[in-house]
Amino acid sequence: MENRNSFTSSLGFVLAAAGSAVGLGNIWRFPYLAAKDGGGLFLVVYIVLALTFGFTLLITEIAIGRKTKQSPLTAYGSLSKKWAGLGIIACLVPAIILPYYCVIGGWVLKYFYVYITGAGAASAADTYFTEFISSPLEPIVFMVIFLGITAFVIYRGVNQGIEKLSKILMPLLLVFIIFIAVFSLTLTYTDESGVTRTGLQGLGVFLIPNFDGLTLERFLAVLVDAMGQLFFSLSVAMGIMVAYGSYVHDDENLKTSINQIEVFDTAVAFLAGVMIIPAVFTFAGVEGMESSGPGLLFVTMPKVFETMGTWGFIIGVLFFALIFFAALTSSISIMEAVTSSFIDRFGWSRNLAASVVLGITTVLALLTCFGYNYLYFELPLPNGTIGQILDVMDYLSNNLLMPLVAIATCLLIGWFLGPDTVIGEVEKGGATMGRKRLYLVMIKFIAPVLLAVLLFKSLGLI
Ligand code: ALA
Repeated sequence: MENRNSFTSSLGFVLAAAGSAVGLGNIWRFPYLAAKDGGGLFLVVYIVLALTFGFTLLITEIAIGRKTKQSPLTAYGSLSKKWAGLGIIACLVPAIILPYYCVIGGWVLKYFYVYITGAGAASAADTYFTEFISSPLEPIVFMVIFLGITAFVIYRGVNQGIEKLSKILMPLLLVFIIFIAVFSLTLTYTDESGVTRTGLQGLGVFLIPNFDGLTLERFLAVLVDAMGQLFFSLSVAMGIMVAYGSYVHDDENLKTSINQIEVFDTAVAFLAGVMIIPAVFTFAGVEGMESSGPGLLFVTMPKVFETMGTWGFIIGVLFFALIFFAALTSSISIMEAVTSSFIDRFGWSRNLAASVVLGITTVLALLTCFGYNYLYFELPLPNGTIGQILDVMDYLSNNLLMPLVAIATCLLIGWFLGPDTVIGEVEKGGATMGRKRLYLVMIKFIAPVLLAVLLFKSLGLI
């Protein structure tokens, strides 16, 4: 078996983990939820949850990885043989997410290509996006390029691939997002009916808490939205943080690194809000904020760029470049979680493990692309949405398996092995773990209950 890879520095680990956390979720869902769920109200709920619930899940997974020096498939079993099955589900999650994440990564690449070649205006047409994703060849070509780049980095390994790339892309992403966010605040636009809206008014929509019609029921809905978002955004319950934790040296201070990862992820989500909400509000009004996900990125934003005129071209290029960086560093982490699992479980070389993952992912990603043409269907899902293959895979991983993995992890650490398993790991080498009491209460009681609520909501039971 090859020597286990590791991150060469604390900064390398933090940027790689932040690169995993900062992804499509931060950019296409966070601003939408904030606009929908009362602006500042959502922000406050989200930040409180990040410091409690998010912190608990993140520190637990990273500590499990570092303690066992194993990736998700084998880590849980090496803590306790009885819990080996949890490793299988924790490895299945990234295996299901990777194909559809690469399909979406391909869409991002396509739009980057369209903007950089000066053809951005065409993408503002109503049917452009649907025609593109349902065409037989183009989405496949861009998916293959995106997956190819992801795999290339994985073949290069943890420090020569993942760490090196994260150290370049994450600072660049920050610069781009800050630039566009500041630009968004300077916007002014008068529409056909003579109404003038500004970026600063849009910032108000994002930041000022809106308590209109706030009932307990609505507050709970905001809470569940924030929790679901946080969960996906921090890359927990996807096996990733266990894998990345296993590459961290024993003498590194986990507490500091985890704080930095949380701050980075939350700051980028916040900046994505400052970047998107004022721009969409200025050019499309409050109604413009009604889409999230692909609709926001690939339909609403091109229309916003079109209305900006010449600036729209430059901002469009930077916007899709930064989303590409965010998506790539996340897809790399998702592929690493599965690849490292195969290396640890079967003793394969990195090249062999990565090739097997690449082969399986290519087949599943092709099927996902076909979901918009040859294999098109409209399947009602238990959470009330209607989906194609991509949505079914997303539902299965994100809404069902991820809460299950997280609940089982809380039970394993909180009740079966005891929280000292994680606390001891964090305090190894003399550091003291902050928020220790909070951690105990969260891992044993609050986190499993919140996760169960999330799972019931996904199943359409509440
Ligand atoms: N955490 C990654 C995202 O937000 C997967 O997209």
